[in-house]
Amino acid sequence: MAKFLVKDNGPLTGEVTISGSKNSVLPIMAATLLSDEECVICDAPDLRDVDVMCRLLEGLDVEVNADFKENILSLRAVNVTRNEVPFDLAKRMRASILTMGPLLARMGSARAALPGGCAIGARPIDLHLKGFELMGAELEYGANYVEARADRLRGAKIYLDYPSVGATENIMAAASLADGTTVIENVAKEPEIVDLASFLNKMGARIKGAGTDTIKIEGVERLHGTKHIVIPDRIEMGTFMVAAAITRGDVLLRNVVPDHVRPVIAKLRECGCLVEDTQEGLRVRANEKPLVATDIKTLPYPGFPTDMQSQFMALLTTVEGRSTVIETVFENRYMHISELNRMGANITIEGRSAVIPGSTHLVGCQVMSTDLRAGAALVLAGLAAEGTTEISEIYHIERGYSQFVEKLRGIGADISRVD
Ligand code: EPZ
Repeated sequence: MAKFLVKDNGPLTGEVTISGSKNSVLPIMAATLLSDEECVICDAPDLRDVDVMCRLLEGLDVEVNADFKENILSLRAVNVTRNEVPFDLAKRMRASILTMGPLLARMGSARAALPGGCAIGARPIDLHLKGFELMGAELEYGANYVEARADRLRGAKIYLDYPSVGATENIMAAASLADGTTVIENVAKEPEIVDLASFLNKMGARIKGAGTDTIKIEGVERLHGTKHIVIPDRIEMGTFMVAAAITRGDVLLRNVVPDHVRPVIAKLRECGCLVEDTQEGLRVRANEKPLVATDIKTLPYPGFPTDMQSQFMALLTTVEGRSTVIETVFENRYMHISELNRMGANITIEGRSAVIPGSTHLVGCQVMSTDLRAGAALVLAGLAAEGTTEISEIYHIERGYSQFVEKLRGIGADISRVD
């Protein structure tokens, strides 16, 4: 199995260019099922999850052309014949559920494997299904699947008990072709929601309010093809900002949207980093004064992103003073703590809070990625740890970070990938 070997190589310095957003391109790829015309997606990141989504769409007879030299995807769902994504692919990626809404709207029925959950939590789809039912779909449960059927969805008023990103995306996409107007309240407000709404509106949808608490969708008869540039990946942005901070370096991030990482900027500044929004991009400097503790509580956007929790915790092990981290979005997103403790972090869990004593002298050893962001956190810890850190199960990391080794090396990191 491939591994990363990471060594402390001093402060990271230089420039890194951020790629397109994984969590934006995946729902946009799924939404191409809503039209039989070609959709061209630019700045598509070269990721395992994007490759899985390509293969999953090909399994639905979508014409897929991927050019990862130019980072351009061309997708055309000319004649979708199946209403179910291939199970062997669906079980590998939670985001496959995002094809359910478009398939239901396009085909009149969609079958999805009931999610088996993953390392960070149960990951139910009850809110997705609630939205489909309120729009008139009949649900039928099988042993390990659920099927939604509706000749044509009709507009409805939907309240989400939790601002679920996936449920917001699935329902918004399905409602685009419904008969009538749908209003979804208490929706997710992540930038990826706004990007998907922008893509759908360019296809001819009539969506208003994305990025606020309430989204209104006036259903239309059909959607046409379009061309779209995906927003930069705000979690990759945050990850490289923390890489600069944990090594006490000075790094400029290009192709960024500072507004998408406000909480991460605020918390880095609380720790004593200098974060400047310059003409060229975001500059993070952590070499001026000792970094100090801060407290983190993850919340739906615009709160501190859960996808940055493990990476920031790695940083907090190295700053002066005691920090606390509270994860409120997922019920089991502390798997990285045991691995960081193998490196000497001494983190303890008290109820829902993690307590990080700080001022830790991290020591490299063999550790294991348990999920995408936990794996990234271990790489960051390895950049600051004495000796060599050997990270296994790196397929998790390669799901969501393109050219991770090359980008880190480009700013001076000593990291290599070994089989
Ligand atoms: C998206 O997952 C992201 N994935 C996740 O990023 C991210 O952590 C998450 O949003 C929260 O920001 C993609 O966009 C592909 P949710 P999603 O539905 O849509 C509960 C990464 O590292 N919930 O907002 O699955 C759920 O159990 C990944 O890139 C229900 O109860 O997240 C969880 O506790 C990890 N019922 C909470 O909501 C539902 O029907 C947030 O889930 C749906 C969700």
